[in-house]
Amino acid sequence: MEDFLVPTWNPSYSVGVDYIDVDFNIILNVLGVIELEIQNFKRPNVLENAKRFLVKHVCAHFKREETDMKRQSYPGFERHSNQHMDYLSNMGELLDAIGRGDLCSEILSAHADWWSDHVRGASRNFVEYLESDEKIAV
Ligand SMILES: [Fe+2]
Repeated sequence: MEDFLVPTWNPSYSVGVDYIDVDFNIILNVLGVIELEIQNFKRPNVLENAKRFLVKHVCAHFKREETDMKRQSYPGFERHSNQHMDYLSNMGELLDAIGRGDLCSEILSAHADWWSDHVRGASRNFVEYLESDEKIAV
């Protein structure tokens, strides 16, 4: 059995907010499809569709999360949204490599790791804020 760099979503990734959990699950799935394609098939149409889906879903997720943060007056909004902007500014490298069909393991790992760290760190911090007395007092 091949080893995959992109992990499969599992309940240990859950932050307890449905849309964040579902979005992260979908993003890991599409990164997994991209990894599988690059390793085995390199079908241009599948990779192109996966790229488009990834961009659309990442942007939708960021927008959904940032809208929620603003609505909840989250004090960590700016720091969190800066992480989103950093990710978007590095996304071109990933998309270019997918387009060429030569996505290296370092780039793929870096993106999978970023998502794991971001969701389990920054997104979980937001959820902790939602559940805290600080939020209740707002
Ligand atoms: Fe986020």
